[in-house]
Amino acid sequence: MTGVISPPKETEQVVGKPINRVDGRLKVMGAARYTAEIPQDNIAHAVLIQSTIAKGRIKDIDTSVAEKAPGVLTVITHRNAPKLNQTEGNSPKPGENLVPLQSDKVFYDGQHIAVVVAETLEQAKYAASLVRVTYEEEKPTVNIEQELPKAYQPEQLFGEELQVQRGDVAKALAQAEVKISQTYTTPIEHHNPIESSATIAVWNGNQLTVYDATQGVIRARNVVAHTLGIPNENVRIISHFVGGGFGCKGYTWWHTILAAVAARIVGRPVKLMVTRQQMFTSCGHRPRTIQQLTLSATRDGKFTAIRHITTLQTAEVGEYVEGCGLMTRILYACPNLEVAHNLVRVNTGTATFMRAPGEAPGTFALESALDELAYELGIDPVELRIINHADVNPHTGKPWSSKHLKECYQKGAERFGWSRRNPTPGSMRDSDYLIGWGMATATFPGYRSPASAKAQLFADGRTIVSSATHDLGTGTYTIMTQIAADALGLPVERIEFKLGESSMPKAPVAGGSQSAASVAPAVQGAAEELRNRVIRLAIDDESSPLYRAAQEAISTENGRVFLKNEPSRGETYAEILQRNNLPVVEVEAIANTAASETQQSSDNKVVRICVGKNENSDWQQYAFQSFGAQFAEVRVHPRLGQVHVTRFVSAIDVGRILNHKTARSQILGGVTFGLGMALMEETVLDQQSGRLVVRNLADYHVPVHADIGDIDVLFIDKPDPHISKMGVRGVGEIGITGVAAAIANAIYHATGKRIRDLPITPDKLL
Ligand code: MOS
Repeated sequence: MTGVISPPKETEQVVGKPINRVDGRLKVMGAARYTAEIPQDNIAHAVLIQSTIAKGRIKDIDTSVAEKAPGVLTVITHRNAPKLNQTEGNSPKPGENLVPLQSDKVFYDGQHIAVVVAETLEQAKYAASLVRVTYEEEKPTVNIEQELPKAYQPEQLFGEELQVQRGDVAKALAQAEVKISQTYTTPIEHHNPIESSATIAVWNGNQLTVYDATQGVIRARNVVAHTLGIPNENVRIISHFVGGGFGCKGYTWWHTILAAVAARIVGRPVKLMVTRQQMFTSCGHRPRTIQQLTLSATRDGKFTAIRHITTLQTAEVGEYVEGCGLMTRILYACPNLEVAHNLVRVNTGTATFMRAPGEAPGTFALESALDELAYELGIDPVELRIINHADVNPHTGKPWSSKHLKECYQKGAERFGWSRRNPTPGSMRDSDYLIGWGMATATFPGYRSPASAKAQLFADGRTIVSSATHDLGTGTYTIMTQIAADALGLPVERIEFKLGESSMPKAPVAGGSQSAASVAPAVQGAAEELRNRVIRLAIDDESSPLYRAAQEAISTENGRVFLKNEPSRGETYAEILQRNNLPVVEVEAIANTAASETQQSSDNKVVRICVGKNENSDWQQYAFQSFGAQFAEVRVHPRLGQVHVTRFVSAIDVGRILNHKTARSQILGGVTFGLGMALMEETVLDQQSGRLVVRNLADYHVPVHADIGDIDVLFIDKPDPHISKMGVRGVGEIGITGVAAAIANAIYHATGKRIRDLPITPDKLL
């Protein structure tokens, strides 16, 4: 088909502008409905019962009293639950391999062991309290250190090598002029989105509709269909608004499937809300990490060896690797490198992706170690990083698609006032308080996956653009609306962007910070092609004022198509469609895939195109990675050990910024999470019983407004020329990376105390 007509240059582009969220009004009015708020007639309520031991078996589960309680519809246990499909081989996987309610075995504290369904939530909760469970308890495995001999080495994580050797580390270390070797540890952490997970399952004959708090409607559909043993076509997943996910809604977990099972048994719609306490065992966590970091360098600061050995806990009933060392392979130029990951099985639920999985704890260790080495060498920490800057990807040897890390260091340092830093620990004071300045590098991969979108112009003037992507509060609704508005020459108010339904054109899971990079080219491709198609209709139509006009001479603005140098000659999209008796013209674009040719339906209404094939055919030659520099100021009370992060500067290179307001909010959130990771967040397991001691927001501390000082976000905002025509790599997770190290480094600078065990609570500073 035709070449792309460039969008109207003379009208101002809305992409990049810090416009308000298009869904903001709905949200402040309470009209944006989250899963648990969606009304359903005749709904029943399901409550999960979870194990209170970490290992053993259920000796007896007495449901007789509960079954007779008021309003109870059913109690489902391993004795009467329907068989659910295992996930083996390439079948769609839920977050955990263990299929619940299929046997009496218990592998961890908080494992689902029963579901009670009743007329009301209160009745279901009360009945759940009447279920009597007795166990045959065994001693659980809890402690990684004790189980080290049983550690094993996973090979890959999403195709990335987890065990890597480059050069000769042992030899380099033996000859090292300067070296440091330390162990850094991070605790179990939980995502804690404010919207806890919830599902409403509605059967209509053999058709299942599932409203679910999920980061991936397509994956959820595949998993639900597979585990229930029904065709994908019979399942529809809907997730219009999600109140934060941070990884715990990336996989589909068993509560979603159990809600569908319960709804089928009672023959009514069923709502299942995971309680805050249950969130700690029902949808993953970040595993504990033990990271041994060894760095050596020449006297003038050039790295000669990096060794990063990570030991992690994983579950008996599922495997998850926190790839702490993956970024170590690529962050700095170094001829000799060893990266290893060891797993130890313990009795916990399966861990999962959480807020920059791998990079968040990994950069804590690596970037703390760099700071220690900088002190050994007497070299400024920023300077040390610049000395070891990786000009190409050291692991693959590929050139970066675009990298502006040196600019991040320079601009961040300038904004922060880094040159005024006296490097001596304890040298900066403000009355009683010790002041510390620390910094670290931030990094996260620039993922992009195949994605599609549909753009529709209606004869009645409406414009709908849709894709099965998600908005976890990140701003997807807004940025996709901006892209479509520019491509179609329409104001943002005239675009209705829809997302979060599995029946929409396919998009990837909203994880890995890939949604903007993946979906933006599809939305742009569909909208541009749609504009071209409609203009072509006018050009070919004798009764159009634009008959036989040259495409390049045509501009669009506010839904009107006209000649650039004779603006009075033109007509609206709606007029063109109406004259052609077309109620709608639609284009579906598939971005970043070699699949499918352009297809067109006979009535000229539906077109499928493939974009991105020529757009980035050289894609494979480049390494896509985002970078940044994090600068922290802390104020430490020397006698109380209290730490306040008073100032933070985050200088970030993620390619082009689609909306400076929503992108900035992403980094503000990331820095806030990093602060939580540095100073507060920790889930404690009782070492005897294997039970969680922390399972609510009173004990699991996350930062609140009073904890947050001034956060300054700088974007380099240079389009990545190779990732897509849009040039956007995506924001999200990079914001948290490096933050804990920057804060820990600042605390060292303030106090002279090097804390290598997160979180840095006051007791560790006294
Ligand atoms: Mo994110 S932890 O990749 O959902």
